[in-house]
Amino acid sequence: VAVTTNPYLAGNYAPVADEATAFDLPVTGTVPVELEGRWLRNGPNPFGAVDPATHHWFIGDGMVHGVRLRGGRAEWYRNRWVRSDRIAAALGEAPRGGPDPGERDFGPNTHVAGFAGRTWALVEGGATPVELTYDLDTVGRNDFDGTLPGPFSAHPKYDPGTGELHAMTYAWPDLVDHLRYVVVGPDGRVRRTVEVPVTDMVMVHDMSLTARYAVVYDLPVTVELDMVVAGSRFPFRWNPDHPARVGLLPRHGQAGDITWCPVSPCYVFHPLNAYDTGDGRVVVDVCRYDTMFDTDRLGPFGDGTATLDRWIIDPATATVTEERIDDRAHEFPRHDPRVAGRPHRYGYTAGVDPATAAVFTATYNIDLATGQVTAHDHGPGRGGAEPVFVPRSGSTDEGDGWLLVAVYDANTDTSELVILDATDLAAAPVARVRLPRRVPHGFHGSWVPDTSVAPPA
Ligand SMILES: [Fe+2]
Repeated sequence: VAVTTNPYLAGNYAPVADEATAFDLPVTGTVPVELEGRWLRNGPNPFGAVDPATHHWFIGDGMVHGVRLRGGRAEWYRNRWVRSDRIAAALGEAPRGGPDPGERDFGPNTHVAGFAGRTWALVEGGATPVELTYDLDTVGRNDFDGTLPGPFSAHPKYDPGTGELHAMTYAWPDLVDHLRYVVVGPDGRVRRTVEVPVTDMVMVHDMSLTARYAVVYDLPVTVELDMVVAGSRFPFRWNPDHPARVGLLPRHGQAGDITWCPVSPCYVFHPLNAYDTGDGRVVVDVCRYDTMFDTDRLGPFGDGTATLDRWIIDPATATVTEERIDDRAHEFPRHDPRVAGRPHRYGYTAGVDPATAAVFTATYNIDLATGQVTAHDHGPGRGGAEPVFVPRSGSTDEGDGWLLVAVYDANTDTSELVILDATDLAAAPVARVRLPRRVPHGFHGSWVPDTSVAPPA
């Protein structure tokens, strides 16, 4: 079927055309004085022309947007393409260097985070992580200083207890018959890998981490050879013949120690959080799609949207109990980082409605103890992307903090960084920072305090 328009290039999916730097951004409301650091967001922003008939949302070149907050001010905004060698050359710049990218000369487009004192742009599927400067310029590809044996992930899980980063990685065609679980130490060097056999070359976007287990999502989206032969840059498709299952890998175990548990056919990009129960089970909350890349091969929203579900995994019986938490469409789930891997009460998500110009809709706070969902409606034609939770300094209660959200306004074709009080989502924003460039619909980001990654001296 010929595609004449590609929804993932329209509206706020469209890339921005240039890089901008701006200082002292206009703010409505009050930026909390204690927020000293950078809000960072990564997403696809194709550099140069792409073919709308084949362009997949997930393969656009990465562009990181950032706002530096300090002293109650929004000191600066920057947006920067993550420099692949191709983009550096097109901009008349020298290549930044790092390990030879081979066929994967690609600027990671999925996540950006601080770790081991440095800023990283990340993507799954094989492209090497890229280190960025504080000001978001590309330092270069960095395989954790020569210790990463292959692919990495956009969704490593930070373990506050050990300071480690845990990732479930895959790459086609490098790893045709297994995934690789990678643990990076707080020194920024890989300290452990485990090869996890799987069939059909599955796309594994994320993982979960509890005190006892790494959770493996082996779900039926797989490489399809006819798409490879046809030259697709994103040859993944719904595969009803691939059994859906989740695996519990003991954190210090090997692949043979995994307990695999079947689940109903589905796809999950993003779990919310996961934890062990007192009786040996594991609870994961997930944004669950009935299918993925079945009828829509250009992006995630054409087959349908995701519901928020709870899976209770029992390794004693190798079964999963599935419960629906909320019927509304949820994506980009986040939680208070203080409860990572431990029981959580609150989740924060972006509402999704692909039929609206803003695509993303309200920002939700889901109280998983009571089932109550509180929404922040960003207003007509406005929608909020992934909400990033920042704990309030000095607080200890889960959920006491702020949500940092990129909000797109289709009425004006502009974006804001909106700061919400996570304990009172129905209230007006604490602050709205007007940005000089749109933040196109994209993926993930972080609050990186200056205490985590220091600004230049
Ligand atoms: Fe993701």
